This record gives sequence, C-alpha cells and structure tokens, in this order.
Amino acid sequence: MTTLLAIESSCDDTSAAVLRDDVLLSNVIASQKVHEQYGGVVPELASRAHEQNIIPVVDGAIREAGIRKEEIDAVAFTRGPGLMGSLMVGVSFAKSFAQALGKPIIEVNHLQAHVLSHFIQASPQPLSQGEGQSLQQPAQASPLPGRGAGVRPTFPFICLLVSGGHTQILLLHSHFDMEILGQTIDDAAGEAIDKAAKIMDLGYPGGPIIDRLAKEGNADAFHFATPQIAGYDYSFSGIKTSFLYFLRDRLKEDPDFIEKHKADLCASIQKTIVDFLLKKVEKAALKYNVRQVAIAGGVSANSRLRSELQRICDKHRWQAFIPPFKFCTDNAAMVGIAGYFKYLKGEFADISLPPYTR
Ligand code: KG4
Ligand code: ZN
Repeated sequence: MTTLLAIESSCDDTSAAVLRDDVLLSNVIASQKVHEQYGGVVPELASRAHEQNIIPVVDGAIREAGIRKEEIDAVAFTRGPGLMGSLMVGVSFAKSFAQALGKPIIEVNHLQAHVLSHFIQASPQPLSQGEGQSLQQPAQASPLPGRGAGVRPTFPFICLLVSGGHTQILLLHSHFDMEILGQTIDDAAGEAIDKAAKIMDLGYPGGPIIDRLAKEGNADAFHFATPQIAGYDYSFSGIKTSFLYFLRDRLKEDPDFIEKHKADLCASIQKTIVDFLLKKVEKAALKYNVRQVAIAGGVSANSRLRSELQRICDKHRWQAFIPPFKFCTDNAAMVGIAGYFKYLKGEFADISLPPYTR
C-alpha cells in the first residue's frame, strides 16, 4: 500500500491531496479570490497567495486524511505547464518536504493529471471535510454525477481536455501514452468563454457565470459562425471576435442590448462553443472506432458540455465519462493519481528538476 502526498499550484488554486494507492483520502483546495477584481489571474499575486496557502493546505490535507506525515511514501507535484511563480511555490515546497522526510519526489504534467482524474477512486468511508472541499469555497453539489465517478475508462479511449489554457482531443493508449489528435491553434475554449463573459462585463472567471445565466436563456436566439478548421483542430479567436463585433453593432442601436438579452447571449455563445467542441470529438471517436469518450479540465464542469456529451454517447451507445465537479477544475487529487501511476513504474524525479511553463 502506497501513501502519496500530492501538490498542485500551477495557476490560481493551491491544492494538496493524500491518496492511498488510487483511493483519495483528502483533497483540499484554496481558491484565490484576489484575481476577481482584476478580471484575470495576476501572476505576481498568485505566487504570493500560494506562499500563504501552501502550508495550511498541506497541513489540512494530511489531517483530513487521518495519516501521520511519516506514512507518506512519496511526494507528487505539478511541474508544469503553468505560471512560473506559481509553480515554483509548489515545486519548492514538495522538494523540501520530501527531503525532510527522506522520501522520493514524482513530477506530474498538469494536463496528463486532468485526464487521469478519471482513475481516482472515492474513499470507501465518507470523509468528514477533506475530499473535494475548498478552504474558501463550498464544494458544488453535482446534478450530473457522471459515470466516471466509480467506473473507470479502459484503453483506448478519447478524452476532450478543455481548460482555461488548453483544448485538445486525446486518444489514450495507456495512462501516459496520450496521442494528440487535434488541438486549438489559438485560444483555448475556456479562454474564449472567459473573454465572452468579459465582453459582457459579467465577471471572472466567466465560465461558471455564463453556464448559470445560460440556463435561463434560449440557445438558438443568436447564431455565431464557427471556423472551418481541418481535421480535429480548433480555433476560438474568430468566435470571440464575431461575438465582439456582433455586440458592438447591436449596442449602437440599443445601449441596453446586453442587459436585455444576457441569458440568450450566454446560452447562444455557450451552445456555439460546446457544439463546435463536441462535433470534432464525435468525428474522432467514429474515425478511431472508440466507444468510450471522456471530458476533463475546467470547462468539463459546463452543464451543456456534460449533457450534450451524454446525449451523443447515448445516441451511439458509447460510454461517457464525465468527471465529478470537484475534479474538473484544478485540484491535487488528479496530481496524486498521476503520481501514483508513476510510482508504480518507479518513475521518480531528480531533486534539481526545475518547473516548466509550457
Ligand atoms: O482547468 P482549470 O481550472 O484551469 C486551467 O488549467 O486552465 O480551467 C479553468 C477554466 C476557466 O476558463 C473557467 O472559466 C472554465 O474552466 N470553467 C467553466 C466552467 N467552470 C469552469 N467553463 C464553462 N462552464 C463552467 N461551468
Ligand atoms: Zn488545469
């Protein structure tokens, strides 16, 4: 039995988790509210907040897991990609902590961790506080729990990785053999959603806000063209621009246009992005004859993406893997599961290893 401590600090969430083999014992997340007033992550403030949060978060994860730190067999951490100042806090902490314990370290790629979150096993006992809990935000209830929670995908399967920084269709041959079938050539899907929210002055991060407002709106109220991109690649910068120009023209006629049509605008732009994403995923699954399709990353929390993936999979009799909300956005549990699979292979990192941003 292996006990792993995992640390995630690549962007604006400080998180620590404890896993016993592939079973999650605790997952503490401190989200940084400080960026909201700036409409985006301010790197300098993010690293400062990580520095403040890292010790209480790790301490909380160990306590909530009910283990002693001497039981930890290795420390896994996100090495990259991410913001350098943010990564350095988690990487340096992980190295020092492991050195103090005389235990090895395991480097984890943040994107692989998002995908491997589908392999996290829930703790058999309900946890008092730890699992999926945030220090500053209550964990969301899950209206669509997703089959990924208990049943794990088998290889090969396709995973759509959609976050604030990345958009890729991956074909997984094994845990770490992820073939990139397609990816965005410019903005990430999450970035496009956040920018649309910013254009409407809705707040940051825009993804959850658009998702919430879209529930009250008509997704067919407005139409935004999607670009013709070859193969399984994506492009989101054009969608963002056409949304901007559309609103600019309407606002000339009616300065209250956004306010009057907010829900319809959110529902329509969300539909445009989700349908564009899933059309290529469906095409890829058909082409590669894969019958299991997963989603991962922050945007996989989107309710339309979740329900539409389920609908498409039901239509083809494929199996959909939809992560629980707590594993969609950045968390250390996913770093822990990736670290566990590396631990099994004996893949430990050298203590001198630096973080990487991309
Ligand atoms: O994976 P993540 O937490 O961080 C990165 O690695 O980027 O993803 C953050 C992204 C943001 O763009 C955020 O707006 C988006 O995920 N997001 C959502 C939802 N929840 C988070 N987008 C659409 N609908 C949501 N419910
Ligand atoms: Zn992420």
